[in-house]
Amino acid sequence: MPRITYIQPDGTEQCVEVADGVSVMHAALASGVSGILAECGGAASCATCHVYVDAAFSERVGPCGEDEDAMLDCTASARTSLSRLSCQIEMSDELDGLIVHLPEAQA
Ligand code: FES
Repeated sequence: MPRITYIQPDGTEQCVEVADGVSVMHAALASGVSGILAECGGAASCATCHVYVDAAFSERVGPCGEDEDAMLDCTASARTSLSRLSCQIEMSDELDGLIVHLPEAQA
């Protein structure tokens, strides 16, 4: 099963294993990773599941969709070129070892 490492703003790391097809957002909620609110439940309409994908994985994760791109303009913490909505990143073996950084704030 692919693994994801979540890194909090204070540097605390949490590594979780997830099944293929599970979103980075759902994996965080299921594993008790703090810092992701996911108020809309994964519909790309709240921006409270904002993460910064580690630069080493940005190409592998691929570009964001149109709805996600628009929603990323509404994040509580500053948007960067590495910003993504974690509900829109589906895990797969190709993303094994993915590292995401949590923002300081989600709302
Ligand atoms: S959970 Fe709402 S945009 Fe991702």
